[in-house]
Amino acid sequence: MTSEPVIKLENVWKIYQLGKVELAALRGVSLDINRGDFVTIMGPSGSGKSTLLNMIGSLDFPSKGKVFLKGKDISLMSENQLSQLRGKTIGFVFQEFNLLPNLDVLENITLPMVFQGLSLEKRKARAEELALSLGLKERILHQPAELSGGERQRVAIARAFANNPEVVIADEPTGNLDSITGKKVMEILTDFHKKEGKTVVVVTHDPNIAGYSEKIVNIKDGQITVNHQQAAEVLWRH
Ligand SMILES: Nc1ncnc2c1ncn2[C@@H]1O[C@H](COP(=O)(O)OP(=O)(O)O)[C@@H](O)[C@H]1O
Ligand SMILES: [Mg+2]
Repeated sequence: MTSEPVIKLENVWKIYQLGKVELAALRGVSLDINRGDFVTIMGPSGSGKSTLLNMIGSLDFPSKGKVFLKGKDISLMSENQLSQLRGKTIGFVFQEFNLLPNLDVLENITLPMVFQGLSLEKRKARAEELALSLGLKERILHQPAELSGGERQRVAIARAFANNPEVVIADEPTGNLDSITGKKVMEILTDFHKKEGKTVVVVTHDPNIAGYSEKIVNIKDGQITVNHQQAAEVLWRH
């Protein structure tokens, strides 16, 4: 079965300029993220995982190579077109939660919907529904500083789900959580994949999650080393 990948990276390089020194954080990465994939990205610190996620999420442009979001070359889109398409297609979860400190839980969850032109009433209803489903009912009027780490990450996940995205991208979402809370957070993400058939791309060191995932991308020094799905396909063909 061939259907267009929801995200496609073609020979992507990312070169950071550090004064006169060039640092190649990604060196020719090609990768397809297909609809319904659960992809785990693993690799040592500094290997380029976050840089790769930024490319997968169209948050940054490659120095060389191409990124396609839903079949569209992102370098050919206007900033406005790209942020619209990215906003409705992808939800982001970060290790540091990245919540706005002066907004309450409901307002934080509502934020991505503001840019998609939803009425205030609909935004509030959707945010309440998400807060409820993630066990944040008693917390909706609290600010991030008043919440535990696990609650903050659930707010961040609710925010990522706000626009009902096809893809959720999470960069070490349990990195700042204790193991039990981290497990709950990963259960929310795996449920999102299992129950709704959505695409998840997650950077994690957790071998349990990697075990659940159908596709593990290992990255080292800015290059993909082993891609188990591709390895299996190669074996299958031979
Ligand atoms: N904005 C940046 N400017 C310069 N160098 C960067 C920047 N972001 C990342 N790097 C460098 O790129 C390499 C890969 O970083 P990163 O993608 O954050 O790795 P990981 O997430 O696997 O720890 C590292 O050497 C890092 O120092
Ligand atoms: Mg990182």
